[in-house]
Amino acid sequence: MADILVLHGPNLNLLGEREVDIYGTSSLEEINDKVKKAAAQVQVEVETWQSNNEGELIDKIHAARGKSKVIILNPGALTHYSYALRDAISSVEIPVIEVHLSNIYAREKWRQKSVTAGAAKGIIAGFGENSYLLAVEAALRIIGAKEV
Ligand code: DQA
Repeated sequence: MADILVLHGPNLNLLGEREVDIYGTSSLEEINDKVKKAAAQVQVEVETWQSNNEGELIDKIHAARGKSKVIILNPGALTHYSYALRDAISSVEIPVIEVHLSNIYAREKWRQKSVTAGAAKGIIAGFGENSYLLAVEAALRIIGAKEV
């Protein structure tokens, strides 16, 4: 597993086709490529992975123990109700950066609460695909691959 693990939750496999006015026209593959390129500039490897399954995401977080240094996680709708995912984040020592394409605080009431964010190191939301690129920037600084 790479130093930076990027996890995408439910429905994010449909990025670029799904509600493009909210989530943008870039596909998940395009976003993953940009994230990998940004980290490759400072010779850091990124693994990207998507699942529509809560349990699989939890297993992947557990499997990252002792392998990845930072996890960037967009939990999709699990953000709003998955205590199991929150506990998984709390159960590992790896800093997790929670990412959202949209500004969840400017949307429907039920989206305005993140149950996972309290277990994360930090959260970046509302910048479209740039949310991921900002998260990589933060991750590279956390692991000391980038300064200033
Ligand atoms: C999302 C926001 C969630 O509310 C939604 O369920 C998603 C995507 C975002 O990236 O903006 O699937 O996490």
